[in-house]
Amino acid sequence: MSLSGKTAIVTGGASGIGRGICLRLARDGANVAILDLDLAGAEKVAAEVMAGGRKAVACQVDVANRSQIDTAVARVRQELGPIHILVNDAGIGEFVPLAQMNEAQWDRMIAIHLKGTFNCTKAVVQDMIDAKWGRVVSISSVAGLGGGMGLVHYSAAKAGIIGFTKALAQELGPLGITVNAIAPGLIDTPIIRKSQLPEEQIRGWIETVVGRTPVRRVGAPDDIAAACAYLASEDASFFTGQVMSPNGGLYT
Ligand SMILES: NC(=O)c1ccc[n+]([C@@H]2O[C@H](COP(=O)([O-])OP(=O)(O)OC[C@H]3O[C@@H](n4cnc5c(N)ncnc54)[C@H](O)[C@@H]3O)[C@@H](O)[C@H]2O)c1
Repeated sequence: MSLSGKTAIVTGGASGIGRGICLRLARDGANVAILDLDLAGAEKVAAEVMAGGRKAVACQVDVANRSQIDTAVARVRQELGPIHILVNDAGIGEFVPLAQMNEAQWDRMIAIHLKGTFNCTKAVVQDMIDAKWGRVVSISSVAGLGGGMGLVHYSAAKAGIIGFTKALAQELGPLGITVNAIAPGLIDTPIIRKSQLPEEQIRGWIETVVGRTPVRRVGAPDDIAAACAYLASEDASFFTGQVMSPNGGLYT
């Protein structure tokens, strides 16, 4: 198992893509800490990780809150040891045209995705520098590459994650740490239902996306987990500052 002896933190690990990543990294040998707003969900995933023979910790955090992240990371370090792998996955979806968007909606979207990525990376980077080895993988989106209707805040945050990734890759490359982003296409997870679009509109949207996607399906969390497991592995050591986009061939 390529990640044996490694400690991974996965934000947003209680659901969807993050849960898939937790289970995959654990299968590859890592101990896993799940940091999520949803404590019950994080505990459930921790139990699944432990059932597979790895150690796990579940912490309730808002990734936008710097002191909550620092406290949670200190607990993970105490229980699982220094952090080798960080996956910045926590996120929300929301469709609102700019004309109707209020400042609070903009601020929250940027705080969770962009400030959250800063908070979590900042909290673990010294461990990686000390170990002269580390992997940071942040979940962006095709919306960060090509934009999306009703998604100016989301697209701006996800594009920001790509800039963060490329700049940090330059800083940390000489220290044995790689920094990459994954920009998934449409993945079947609860985020779609949480976006509060009417069910009929969601179904129509999924049908349209599938029809335009060369592989004729939406993605599954395992598709993204596989990409993440590769980026976290030793095999990916020449891979940094990159945006990998598992999207079935549909870019926007
Ligand atoms: N599903 C897609 O189509 C898709 C496509 C591209 C990118 N993404 C991105 O993938 C990531 C995971 O999304 P998903 O589809 O698995 O959604 P999801 O709703 O299934 O999971 C998101 C998780 O993040 C957690 N979370 C939300 N806000 C948080 C906060 N402030 N602090 C801590 N945890 C928080 C939620 O509790 C949840 O467990 C997100 O960043 C999302 O933007 C999703």
